[in-house]
Amino acid sequence: MPDLVSLTVDDRVVQVPSNTGLVEAALAAGVEIPVFCYEPRLGAPIGACRMCLVEIEGIPKLQAGCTLTAIDGMVVRTAATSAKAADGQESTLEFILVNHPLDCPVCDKGGECPLQDLTFRYGPGRTRMTFPKVTFDKPIPVSPLIALDRERCILCYRCTRFSEEVAEDGLLIARNRGARSEIATFEDEPYRSVFSGNVIELCPVGALTSSMYRFDARPWEIQNVPTVCTGCATGCNVTATIREGKVKRILSRNHAEIDRGWLCDKGRFTYPHLLARDRITAPLQRGPKGLKEVSWDEALDAAEEMLREAEGAIVTALSGSETTEIAYALGRLLRGGVGAHSAVLPEATSDALEAFRLPLSAIAEAELVVVVGDDPVVERAPIVDLWLKEARRRGAEVVACSPTGTVQVAPGGSAAFCQGISAAGNELGQRLRNADRAVLVWSGPGGGGGARIAELAHELGFEEKPGCGAFHLPVTPNGRAVAAAWSASADADETRPETISVLVVSGEDAAADPGVRALAEQAERVIVVTMFHELVGGWADLILPATGALERDGTTMNLEGRLQRLRRAVAPPCPDELAWISKLAARFDVEISPHASAVFAELSEHLFQDLSMDEIGLRAALPSRTAYEAPAPAAQPASVPEHGATELRLQRYRALISGPAVERVRELEFQRPEREVEISAVDARQRGISSGDPVLVRSNGTSIELRARVNRRLVEGIARVAEEHAADLHAVVEVVKA
Ligand code: SF4
Ligand code: SF4
Ligand code: FES
Repeated sequence: MPDLVSLTVDDRVVQVPSNTGLVEAALAAGVEIPVFCYEPRLGAPIGACRMCLVEIEGIPKLQAGCTLTAIDGMVVRTAATSAKAADGQESTLEFILVNHPLDCPVCDKGGECPLQDLTFRYGPGRTRMTFPKVTFDKPIPVSPLIALDRERCILCYRCTRFSEEVAEDGLLIARNRGARSEIATFEDEPYRSVFSGNVIELCPVGALTSSMYRFDARPWEIQNVPTVCTGCATGCNVTATIREGKVKRILSRNHAEIDRGWLCDKGRFTYPHLLARDRITAPLQRGPKGLKEVSWDEALDAAEEMLREAEGAIVTALSGSETTEIAYALGRLLRGGVGAHSAVLPEATSDALEAFRLPLSAIAEAELVVVVGDDPVVERAPIVDLWLKEARRRGAEVVACSPTGTVQVAPGGSAAFCQGISAAGNELGQRLRNADRAVLVWSGPGGGGGARIAELAHELGFEEKPGCGAFHLPVTPNGRAVAAAWSASADADETRPETISVLVVSGEDAAADPGVRALAEQAERVIVVTMFHELVGGWADLILPATGALERDGTTMNLEGRLQRLRRAVAPPCPDELAWISKLAARFDVEISPHASAVFAELSEHLFQDLSMDEIGLRAALPSRTAYEAPAPAAQPASVPEHGATELRLQRYRALISGPAVERVRELEFQRPEREVEISAVDARQRGISSGDPVLVRSNGTSIELRARVNRRLVEGIARVAEEHAADLHAVVEVVKA
């Protein structure tokens, strides 16, 4: 039990745990202390705006309530019961508004603006100022995503504190002093951070606005739909703002255990891909003159014929971004009905992790965090990167064991490194064994989808310690539930046929995968379910239009193993997947409902102990841990390719801001990975290369020109390139000056 203190706020007595901030203590008493700059997620209060002035018995001057902690016997009066506090707040607002343009009718924040609301409630009814107000050039593009109307800024420093203390990018700054202070970017460079959009939501006025939402909607014309982001496996909780049937913006919907109200820019700004120029809205079938639009009946006839003629020699490539229900329904149709042989599943996630389950927020509470794996955490699950930063700020030791980590591990070496940790006498292993709150994170390919990290957690005795846990950061948003739903859908053989009669490709990620493209070359016929024409126009025989996550009802499971609810925010421009799967399945005597809730009810029996969709709720709970079951032995990691003295090993990674949806959003272009190759300082010196030099990256007859970046933290012998710029390169490359 925490110590309790008792205080009086506006004549109401309330008890709160000691160390509770006064703003929260007042709320517990049912009293609001209005604030602008106060935001506990940004660290300690800074008392910048003085909106929270309160009268405290025994202290002669008004106090900034947000900077105080509740103490026993404190007597507090807010503007509701103290004329002095009311006068103080009115004067504060009069001062804040001295240079504020009061352009609410044309301001994007108007109608949902704390400054507007608090001025109505606490501010002066009229202005005494008759002189011209300060003006600035406007809007100033902070980046292609964010506009700054500097004259509206009230200098609360929320944005700069986010940049400095949460994202830790230091790119937003307050420059000049006193009355000339203004918000700017460092060296006036664009604000290039994958977390940049959070400052739009943090700004309590209309100074920082989304350039994509600007002048697009007013608060009374919109609907807000609660759903979940599927941009990566974190599964951040979001609200989609809809106007006239179109998605206009994505806001956070704080789930304290998953995202704490932060989103990355991929999740926040990718929604325009729903209106992409090459979006497919009707089925297309290849004929003698190429692809041509056909009716749904014709498309289902063609699909039925292809599947029947294939006699089971069918392979299905799944993306891992399907809803659990779509994966299950496809499985019922293809495995149960048609007798399809096998699936190319996205990266699997090991069930062994369930014994070490923790909410992501537990990372911030940890005393020791060990991150292993080849890929940067921020590229796989950006919000996990923010949790790691918070853990470090709170005093945790975060040990990064990777090609650029504090402990350097060459690509492909993570599994062996884990073995070393659990070996007797390993110093890091000993500290992990002794810790009460330790977390392991696997960020990279291999490792059996988290099986290796689960084994390590088991060897370290984490089952017995509720504060210790392990996470795997998969590349797909719902791969885990998709794999489970696929295997629960039918009791069928999963042997790959020698020749593939029909390849069924589900989703854009599978369609963009070079491995799937290679299978398509072997297959006699290819059916693709996708949103975008350009991806598959050259090689698909039958294309069925797909829906996006914001157009779907259903469920998705995040990297914690938490099942969450997707809600349809907008109607898709085509029948959704369950609608046509249900019709096609009926032709093979398989009964599948076209409704996500009914499909979920059926699969929940097999996978989720009859949980109902309604029980998942708006903020899903984390299931409890299960007993540890040793995973099946992981496949041997691919052997490390040999390379000559002048060659380097290529390390590819999938950048967060990449993929078919992102590529269709012009405003996100500046956030996509640079056309560059990272090499270590030693390798750069040997080749006479400096950062910024144009270089040729060559392998087996392929040569690509990229810019060099010397990364002093990168392990030697490696050339690191984002996947989208490394398409045709082999595992061993030469890097030479262009
Ligand atoms: S731009 Fe907005 S968040 Fe930043 S200091 Fe000004 S008012 Fe505050
Ligand atoms: S971290 Fe992942 S789930 Fe969260 S907003 Fe970004 S892409 Fe979406
Ligand atoms: S909210 Fe207290 S000073 Fe700004």
